[in-house]
Amino acid sequence: MTTQPTPEDKFTFGLWTVGWPARDPFGDATRPAVDMVESVHKLAEMGAYGVTFHDDDVFPFGSDTAARDNHVKRFRAALDETGLVVPMVTTNLFTHPVFKEGGLTANDRDVRRFALRKVMRNMDLAAELGAQTYVLWGGREGTEVDMAKDLIAALDRYAEAIDTLAQYSEDRGYGLRFALEPKPNEPRGDIFLPTVGHAIAFISKLQHADLVGINPETGHEQMSNLNFTHGIAEAIWLGKLFHIDLNGQHGPKFDQDLVFGHGDLLQAFSTVDLLENGAPGGGPVYDGPRHFDYKPLRTENIDGVWESALANMELYLSLREKSKAFRADPEVQEALEAARVAELSRPTLNDGESYDQLLADRSAFEDYDLDRARTQGYGFARLQRLAIEHLLGVR
Ligand code: GCO
Ligand code: MN
Ligand code: MN
Repeated sequence: MTTQPTPEDKFTFGLWTVGWPARDPFGDATRPAVDMVESVHKLAEMGAYGVTFHDDDVFPFGSDTAARDNHVKRFRAALDETGLVVPMVTTNLFTHPVFKEGGLTANDRDVRRFALRKVMRNMDLAAELGAQTYVLWGGREGTEVDMAKDLIAALDRYAEAIDTLAQYSEDRGYGLRFALEPKPNEPRGDIFLPTVGHAIAFISKLQHADLVGINPETGHEQMSNLNFTHGIAEAIWLGKLFHIDLNGQHGPKFDQDLVFGHGDLLQAFSTVDLLENGAPGGGPVYDGPRHFDYKPLRTENIDGVWESALANMELYLSLREKSKAFRADPEVQEALEAARVAELSRPTLNDGESYDQLLADRSAFEDYDLDRARTQGYGFARLQRLAIEHLLGVR
């Protein structure tokens, strides 16, 4: 099995992931922040394809143009030396206290105008570095006190902001596509656009809906006890999977940001199977970056940071191999056949059949053999057994 990552695998990491000094709400940093130049070199050595960043990951909040340019220069030099690319960029609208009540949906209009300017400034850099996707994660867009927010106006302002940014990208010829990242809570008590479904529905109201998709994160859906693979399937179906944040999470609790697969391993398997092989009935497959948005455990020193970065990529590659072996296994193919998985790709009505013809078809209703349908088995237990045997490597 080949689990040696290469740039063709399109693995990317946020600078804030490996660079995280492991400060949490209860405790201080347990290791020094990793310099972005070191991260770029180390990730390139390990076979990554690119890195992503928030403005504040590259130059400190409040940097003037000269200071910003110096930091960007160092970053660019590291990219040039290593060949790593920057396919996605985002904005930090959550760390500085100015955003404590929100960024794009803050009650204070001046905060909203400042937030928009901060995003636009980093879109300029995103375009300069050749990014295709601009992620918007609204960690502070939300409430703890519902009576303190006009929840309808908040959505109006969110839409206004995203349409303004899309217009800016279009007018400047930046060619960026925007990806909204849902999350149910943390840091706000309740965050707007909490799930894939909420975000996708919101996009349909935008003037620039065609330029806006989603960036779902494994753990964020699982924090709501939802099935991540189902979420990305709907996004793929709608042509809205613009980017993806892969990581691990053990069900509904705080955002764990574990290594990919180190939460719900079985769901990670179905995620990789869908991304890499597409639906059994065919259809579009995601070909964008495989982006890891995780936090190296707070227990780790720098060796553990790189160990865990590698673990994300290796686990993904292992699951990719296993998903291919699963699909190629003749016994699995027979089990899929028995489970009638392919039959779902067949339209429910015959070609050109009208509902009148369906109404006239006695075999569909009046003479339908309910007893046979009631007693038939689907053989899913066998499929699950085979999937787990492949996953464990005992087949
Ligand atoms: C989280 C989020 C963030 C965002 C990132 C992009 O774990 O709560 O994933 O990490 O993805 O900040 O803005
Ligand atoms: Mn997260
Ligand atoms: Mn994320």
